[in-house]
Amino acid sequence: MSSSGDVYLLYGGKTGWLGGKLHQLLQDQGKKVYLAEARLENRESMIREIDELKPTHVLNAAGVTGRPNVDWCDLHKPETIRANVIGTLNLADVCSSRGIHCTMYATGCIFEYDAEHTIGGKGFVEDDLPNFDGSFYSLTKGMVERMLRVYPGVLVLRVRMPISDDLVARNFITKITKYEKVVNVPNSMTVLTELLPASLAAAEKRLEGIYNFCNPGAISHNEILEMYKKFIDPNFTYTNFSIEEQDKILIARRSNNTLDCNKLVDALPGVEINEIHVAMEGVFARMRANLEKEGNFPPVRNDK
Ligand SMILES: NC(=O)c1ccc[n+]([C@@H]2O[C@H](COP(=O)([O-])OP(=O)(O)OC[C@H]3O[C@@H](n4cnc5c(N)ncnc54)[C@H](OP(=O)(O)O)[C@@H]3O)[C@@H](O)[C@H]2O)c1
Repeated sequence: MSSSGDVYLLYGGKTGWLGGKLHQLLQDQGKKVYLAEARLENRESMIREIDELKPTHVLNAAGVTGRPNVDWCDLHKPETIRANVIGTLNLADVCSSRGIHCTMYATGCIFEYDAEHTIGGKGFVEDDLPNFDGSFYSLTKGMVERMLRVYPGVLVLRVRMPISDDLVARNFITKITKYEKVVNVPNSMTVLTELLPASLAAAEKRLEGIYNFCNPGAISHNEILEMYKKFIDPNFTYTNFSIEEQDKILIARRSNNTLDCNKLVDALPGVEINEIHVAMEGVFARMRANLEKEGNFPPVRNDK
């Protein structure tokens, strides 16, 4: 059990992908952690729960991301606003007014490459304001980020294309190996095995404000798929198409960008945050070892 006196209240920990991983990590670290019962938009029950449990730290990995994908948010705008706007702002407001540190697992999908931020050029920094609103999800996330800047004690982590060490459906690697056709654009990405522990270190230090929350550098779809071939399945094949062709099969556009991670790396000396290609080598090595341990190597793929 925690000796620090810190008490964590985690939203999204019961059924969420990132939330489940955070819960496990907190338990592994011997932290005192509660899983929130309150829905984000229900301010009164949120207040009751927070005042009863008296957390020192709140972690918010709850919100709607859309199933089967983010297009859902374009088709369910009020529901998206209820959780991601009203709910997120409720939590920031309640925590900030009580002096409780609050970490928001937010998104970096609020930017797209532009004339000043080109592929291979300088990345977006924390002071940059969103320039991508091609999906309702991104539009609302960008608006909320601007409002979250107001609240003392709130840490906003711009997650991008999360990568895990397995082949679960939510993993960006799994997604792009299942697509009929895939675009090929370098992007910032968040390797969860490195960055979720980094987020807990950031919360413990009570960092606040906006942080680009990914591994330094950018990696393209094809670079990842070539690594998949090298580590997991030499027989795997894929077909590219252009962003314009991709736009035709989607309801909402997708964001492509590189975020500058210097602020995060400088704020967490001694915390392992590798350059994205190095981090991805680690991901694939662990993925292969896990699959071998489970007796599922090479993985059977009848899903494409
Ligand atoms: N996955 C990605 O690609 C990605 C990328 C960038 C950023 N992020 C951000 O990271 C966060 C976590 O993502 P994730 O992939 O872990 O999401 P997820 O697997 O879809 O989990 C979302 C969690 O939020 C809970 N939730 C939804 N609406 C809620 C509400 N109104 N009140 C309370 N809880 C609610 C869900 O609980 P129920 O099952 O009970 O509804 C679920 O536990 C999100 O804010 C997302 O925007 C994700």
